[in-house]
Amino acid sequence: MIGMFDSGSGGLSVLREVVKLLPGERYVYYSDNAHCPYGEKTAEYIQDRAREITRLLMGKGCNIIVVACNTATGAAIKQLREEFPIPFIGMEPAVKPAALGTKSGVIGVLATAGTLRASKYLDTKGRFQDDVKIVEHVGEGFVELVENGILDGPEAEAVVERSLRPLLDAGADIIVLGCTHYPFLMEPIRRIAGPEVRIIDPAPAVARQVVNVLEREGIPYQKDAGALAHPDIELLSSGDPASLLRIFALIS
Ligand code: DGL
Repeated sequence: MIGMFDSGSGGLSVLREVVKLLPGERYVYYSDNAHCPYGEKTAEYIQDRAREITRLLMGKGCNIIVVACNTATGAAIKQLREEFPIPFIGMEPAVKPAALGTKSGVIGVLATAGTLRASKYLDTKGRFQDDVKIVEHVGEGFVELVENGILDGPEAEAVVERSLRPLLDAGADIIVLGCTHYPFLMEPIRRIAGPEVRIIDPAPAVARQVVNVLEREGIPYQKDAGALAHPDIELLSSGDPASLLRIFALIS
């Protein structure tokens, strides 16, 4: 059984892609929305949350966990891998494909403050910043929009514009979405960025990685949907489940 967690509903953008590849698997998704957002919290705080959620997911029978949150990956995946005996798959801003694909020589990264200061991200950035210019911006207010179910319209567009515009003005022709909430704002992001700018959501690549790790670790898994009419997904949240259910309805 595959466990997944995020500070809120953002990780559903990853669950959506994993379910496409493994529709017959069983999933438990945990939204830690009572403690959302993670973006401004300390690494220690996020590590404690990640440990508690991992214990809960393992207690439910999960034998592999997707940390469907870039911020929690940056803050806690190292500790989780050291402390728990199951495989963890994390999220990372897709700097490499962006660096290889840019024509303008400028790539933009949108992520939380926590992700942008995590050593995991800084290491990746260090490997590419001699070859391409990497410009960054925190997606200010993006997580709150998604948690409130505001995915498009004038308010969403104004919020997205404020953080995306500086990256476009700097000449970025590829924008990396470094937070799992952000793909739910794809409509305004694409509209503002225009057709010439490529937007990278790393979720499909992470989904392929889940299958690779299941194979590599020899963990039995259910590939096809079989007789299941709907994927078997249990949703849990530490706070009000309304926002989780609202976004879940969009992906199912
Ligand atoms: N969805 C999360 C991420 O990928 C965290 C957003 C937040 O809680 O700040 O970074």
